[in-house]
Amino acid sequence: MRKTLFMQDGPAFKLGVFGYLHDGGITITKVPERWTAQWDDIVALARNADDAGLDFLLPYARWKGMPGEIPQRTHSFETLAHAAALSGHTRRIGVFATVHTPIVHPGVAAKMITTIDHASHGRAGINIVCGWNQDDFDMFGIEQLPHDERYEHGREWFDIWSRLTSGAAKPFDYRGKYFRNIEKASAMPGSLQRPWPLVISAAYSPAGRKFAIDTSDYLLTVAEDLEAGQRELSALASQSQSAGRTEPIKPIIVCYVVCRETRAEAEAFHRYYAEENADHVGVDYWIAGRQTKAMLPEALYRLRSRIAGGNTNFPLIGTPGDIAEQLIALHRAGFTGAAVGFLNYSTDLPPFVEKVMPALVKAGLR
Ligand SMILES: Cc1cc2nc3c(=O)[nH]c(=O)nc-3n(C[C@H](O)[C@H](O)[C@H](O)COP(=O)(O)O)c2cc1C
Repeated sequence: MRKTLFMQDGPAFKLGVFGYLHDGGITITKVPERWTAQWDDIVALARNADDAGLDFLLPYARWKGMPGEIPQRTHSFETLAHAAALSGHTRRIGVFATVHTPIVHPGVAAKMITTIDHASHGRAGINIVCGWNQDDFDMFGIEQLPHDERYEHGREWFDIWSRLTSGAAKPFDYRGKYFRNIEKASAMPGSLQRPWPLVISAAYSPAGRKFAIDTSDYLLTVAEDLEAGQRELSALASQSQSAGRTEPIKPIIVCYVVCRETRAEAEAFHRYYAEENADHVGVDYWIAGRQTKAMLPEALYRLRSRIAGGNTNFPLIGTPGDIAEQLIALHRAGFTGAAVGFLNYSTDLPPFVEKVMPALVKAGLR
């Protein structure tokens, strides 16, 4: 029986904040207003989101910077340590860590997530990522496996992690293809959430989606538009069913928000930071970094302003009313929730909370 302590009941449409743990956040822009990811600002953002009743905090995992006209992603923090720290600054919001399976041993991740789950009284979550950006891996001297094999390795990783996070009161040995010689593994006391904390993953390829459906409660995804999103959701529902899941994997759409009093102002501001001041070296690097055809819908790689504006995520640009309306449409389309990012979380989260969230409450989503 699944017993998780956040995102299980509560609002019909879940909302979380995404991508704030490195400079630039979800944007690739040069404007001075961009997010600089100072630790105290991250704590303030976490507290704001917690007080506002949002459901979760979810970072990208990045280890080092990427090329750009200005330094991009060079200032970043580690996600497991971040979740531990933020659990002490918040009261009820879920705190996710994004973990790279080739880099962090499942035994270490199990013990750390268990610790965070106890420290937060049951609010820990894990976003499992099996690898994408070889540049990040180079600094660990790790050569990524061929694409689909990353998910076979991830599957063994998940088997060990989930058994250990459940406590494994009776020690077990594990003999896999990648984890060959694990002896007498145990990790009491195990997490408070049972049998283990909430699991998210993000993937597009058939191998990646299969991994998500076999292991995760939620799938983090990006849709080109509402119609494409709907097609994706029906495919996910039938894949979940063929995999024998009792309920389909729950899709969370990643969005970026530009909210202003008028639509014209919001569009002008988006043009300013995502077109006129896009970091084109960064955008080119991002496009070139696509390592498998399936990573994102092909069409998204042609939308430079959407890459600079929000890492290709779903754009919510307009008045508070426009943004609420689009979130309601995403809910109607079948998305379980949205993970939202902003150009600057300190200045842009408060208006979202004050002006968009009440409309979601009114519409019965929250
Ligand atoms: C919204 C979203 C967030 C992601 N976050 C991370 C991340 O923080 N770190 C990372 O290495 N990969 C991240 N990924 C990449 C995925 O884990 C995966 O490698 C990528 O989507 C390619 O999918 P595929 O392997 O199925 O082709 C993210 C993907 C998406 C869609």
